[in-house]
Amino acid sequence: MMIANLLIFAAVLLLVQPGALAFQVISRTSLTHQQITKSAILQTTAEVCKARAEQQGQNFVMPDLLTAESLAAACSSPQSANNFRSVINDVANRNAWVDGRHVFDEEYHFDDESFLRGRDVITSGVDTVKANTEQQNFETARERLGETMHTLQDFYSHSNWIELGNQSPYTTLIRPNLPINNIADRNTPTCRSCVGDNCDNNILDTIIAEKKLTSGYFSLTSFSKPSGKCSHGGTFDLTSRTEPTGGINKDGFGSEHGSLHLQAANAAISATSELLEDLRASVGNNDFLRLMGISQTFNVLCIVIDTSESMADDIAEVRRITSFIIDSTKGTTDEPSDYILVPFNDPEFGPLTRTTDAEEFKRLINAISPAGGGTDTAEMSLSGLWLALAGAPLRSQIFLFTDAEPKDAELKSTVLALIESTKSTVNFLLTNARSTRRRLSNSLNQIYQELAEASGGQAIEVTKDTLSQATSIIEDTSSSALVTLFFVVRSPPKAEHFSILVDSSVTNLTIYITGISPTFTVTSPSGLSQSSTEANGSLGTIQTVGNFHTMRPNNQNQTGLWQISVNSTQPYSVKVTGQSTIDFFFDVVEVFLVPHRGYTVLASRPQTTAGGNVSVVLSVTGGDSVKLTEAAAVETMGTETIVGSLEELGNGEYLVTFGTAPRGSFGIHVTGQDNTGSSQISFQRYSSAQLRTSNVSVTAVANGIWTPGMTFSLPFTVETSQSGGSFSITVRNNRLYNMTFPSSLVIGNGGRANGTVTLTAPSDTPSGTDVTLTIVATDPGASDFNYAVLHLSVVAGVGPAMSLSLSLWFIMMVLFLDQISHL
Ligand SMILES: *[C@@H]1O[C@H](CO)[C@@H](O)[C@H](O)[C@H]1NC(C)=O
Ligand SMILES: *[C@@H]1O[C@H](CO)[C@@H](O)[C@H](O)[C@H]1NC(C)=O
Ligand SMILES: *[C@@H]1O[C@H](CO)[C@@H](O)[C@H](O)[C@H]1NC(C)=O
Ligand SMILES: *[C@@H]1O[C@H](CO)[C@@H](O)[C@H](O)[C@H]1NC(C)=O
Ligand SMILES: *[C@@H]1O[C@H](CO)[C@@H](O)[C@H](O)[C@H]1NC(C)=O
Ligand SMILES: *[C@@H]1O[C@H](CO)[C@@H](O)[C@H](O)[C@H]1NC(C)=O
Ligand SMILES: *[C@@H]1O[C@H](CO)[C@@H](O)[C@H](O)[C@H]1NC(C)=O
Ligand SMILES: *[C@@H]1O[C@H](CO)[C@@H](O)[C@H](O)[C@H]1NC(C)=O
Repeated sequence: MMIANLLIFAAVLLLVQPGALAFQVISRTSLTHQQITKSAILQTTAEVCKARAEQQGQNFVMPDLLTAESLAAACSSPQSANNFRSVINDVANRNAWVDGRHVFDEEYHFDDESFLRGRDVITSGVDTVKANTEQQNFETARERLGETMHTLQDFYSHSNWIELGNQSPYTTLIRPNLPINNIADRNTPTCRSCVGDNCDNNILDTIIAEKKLTSGYFSLTSFSKPSGKCSHGGTFDLTSRTEPTGGINKDGFGSEHGSLHLQAANAAISATSELLEDLRASVGNNDFLRLMGISQTFNVLCIVIDTSESMADDIAEVRRITSFIIDSTKGTTDEPSDYILVPFNDPEFGPLTRTTDAEEFKRLINAISPAGGGTDTAEMSLSGLWLALAGAPLRSQIFLFTDAEPKDAELKSTVLALIESTKSTVNFLLTNARSTRRRLSNSLNQIYQELAEASGGQAIEVTKDTLSQATSIIEDTSSSALVTLFFVVRSPPKAEHFSILVDSSVTNLTIYITGISPTFTVTSPSGLSQSSTEANGSLGTIQTVGNFHTMRPNNQNQTGLWQISVNSTQPYSVKVTGQSTIDFFFDVVEVFLVPHRGYTVLASRPQTTAGGNVSVVLSVTGGDSVKLTEAAAVETMGTETIVGSLEELGNGEYLVTFGTAPRGSFGIHVTGQDNTGSSQISFQRYSSAQLRTSNVSVTAVANGIWTPGMTFSLPFTVETSQSGGSFSITVRNNRLYNMTFPSSLVIGNGGRANGTVTLTAPSDTPSGTDVTLTIVATDPGASDFNYAVLHLSVVAGVGPAMSLSLSLWFIMMVLFLDQISHL
């Protein structure tokens, strides 16, 4: 793989323009982009919390040490600490992503004296973040925010701003109306060669005296740069080998201007805080805090519901359970912050309605009247689910109610792409069970079972009269501190014995076994046992409804090793959940080594090439004292377990590298320790999200402005490591905008091919609308597929000041995307 990568890399080198570097992404000593981002977010958020508290006449105590946990508590939302931490990591990872995806685009890094274009990257990025935030499209806003911060931060490392004696940020970079004065023009020499290893004093005295702005030139491919100009410097920058030699970057302590690294990093932190403050001034305290993941409540209640004629009973039950949840969580931290409803029928589906108003949500649900459904039994269930996945926040719990098989099974791979990339959990409540005495299962529900399993959820099959006994799952999962302690699927079935470690931070242990008539026995750490036939036994209660078995242990000491033995002639799944602040989430990443080591988060399946690694970045929550000791990839349907190598990145993040991945679907299993308090806790967690590798890859990068009424072009590349042929292409966007794309691409063995998607946003599209686009490529045998999921932004508003400099704008504004070249 290494050789293959280098070849591709060499091939790319021949084609690309000179580009860029940055503060580092992985470093043990120097301040990285992620640390700069984290510091700025913590500082600014603390100020915003303080301002809000004062406004509301409340006391605010600034924590001595700012962490996600201490600040969430000071901000009177301690329960949002994990959410806040995950937002910080998402923004920071998106920041790091720019180095992987825009390594050769100098304006993203202020290289090559690209000050005007660099500033345009920042100001158009800020406009997009504001517009997306105003539309409550927080996920997309966070992506754009991370990208924008990257460019802003690089200014302080790559230009001579610090060498000019400045300590504070250059505010002009976030003000499109202010001129950037005094840029050294192309013919003005700016540097002299470094003498030996000493590079402290290589910027020309006239540049310093006249306070002229310059930055280092950078290229991996060429020794050339305009005469007399400074270079970026470092191993990979070939321009630094030509006169004037050496460089001026302050990316790390080891850089040519590493003695100024701390000053540059501190200025970058102040500048990032200033950008965040500008954002807050524009969107207000409350939306700013929601963008950061801090709010009194943040659960989302997401219901996807079949509204066809036969669904009257189910709809009545949805009314009951949603009212119950709304009323019983009101004023508690489990109260949903957002409600999402997606109806589907045949042939209609949608629209997705999202509201923060519980009463409005009740009205929406009350207004559903069962009707229609067409002449056959099948309905557009996957279309409804697709809209929900594309529009709900990451890691949502989604509940789908239907009594019909899908009429739109062709959406399966698109839905899987969104399940995997959002890490949302989908639970199906199916009332088409064949309620003959012994067999409940309806084979038409197979596709729902597969989707549930891929998401770590359950396909619950009940009759209409027993549905109300199964909806307790919605209550269970509406806790803000839900964690998964165990998840396996056994299909084909197999008698098996499972052990689950429950640590003392866990409460409300719940064991779910989904399957037709399994027999099982649960044994507690103290040795008490209860079998599936005892509804009320020594350990707790077991409720059985349809194929869904829920065991709730008594509220005694639940800490220790639990044992579950299951025997069944039918496929089954076992899921164990609890409530705890200690948890983790993960992203699949691609590690790159050149120009410096870093990673980009992928919105696709990891591609497996012979001997290739699969890497994920894990983030642990629960406080700075929580440490991981092991991470493994565990086959969902079997027992294959691959232990990864664990590298701590700081900020609760770990890079885990698996030398290979299990075949088929797998989850991530972690073990770790929390060393706070009086005693040490050893814990285990499973990811509820499952993943898979693919031999196909789909890469796409969106570049350019997309305004209402305009058609946007998105090039993409599909590659296979196996035999070629005709790969089918499916592209969908959740706004249902008109699109064109090739329906198939012919690819040679181990080759690649390009295609282009064009999308047209109607001219009345509100500014700040985000579009979730999925590109799915399926191999000729239809046995393997991969995808790219992109969040694009439609932003109106090249404002009056900007229209004056429209020509500058043209290259700008970057939306985005996932996937691209394989460095
Ligand atoms: C795979 O990961 C191992 C351990 O992190 C590393 O040493 C090796 O270079 C990686 N291989 C490739 C091809 O990236
Ligand atoms: C969780 O457990 C606590 C007591 O430990 C109890 O008060 C609460 O009702 C439980 N929550 C749920 C959703 O069962
Ligand atoms: C289980 O049994 C206990 C004691 O016999 C009783 O108090 C409790 O109500 C029962 N629970 C259920 C759900 O039947
Ligand atoms: C709970 O049980 C575990 C093992 O069974 C024991 O180690 C622990 O001390 C107990 N905790 C409490 C609070 O009793
Ligand atoms: C599972 O059940 C079958 C009968 O249903 C029985 O023959 C078999 O021995 C059981 N297996 C275990 C491991 O208990
Ligand atoms: C990828 O190709 C290898 C070798 O042909 C095969 O064993 C593997 O099953 C393929 N993976 C997928 C996900 O199809
Ligand atoms: C899609 O294109 C058709 C035909 O050009 C047009 O009538 C329709 O309004 C367009 N739909 C949208 C959502 O732009
Ligand atoms: C695909 O596009 C890239 C540039 O985006 C180009 O370098 C490459 O040659 C194209 N590949 C094919 C097979 O057309």
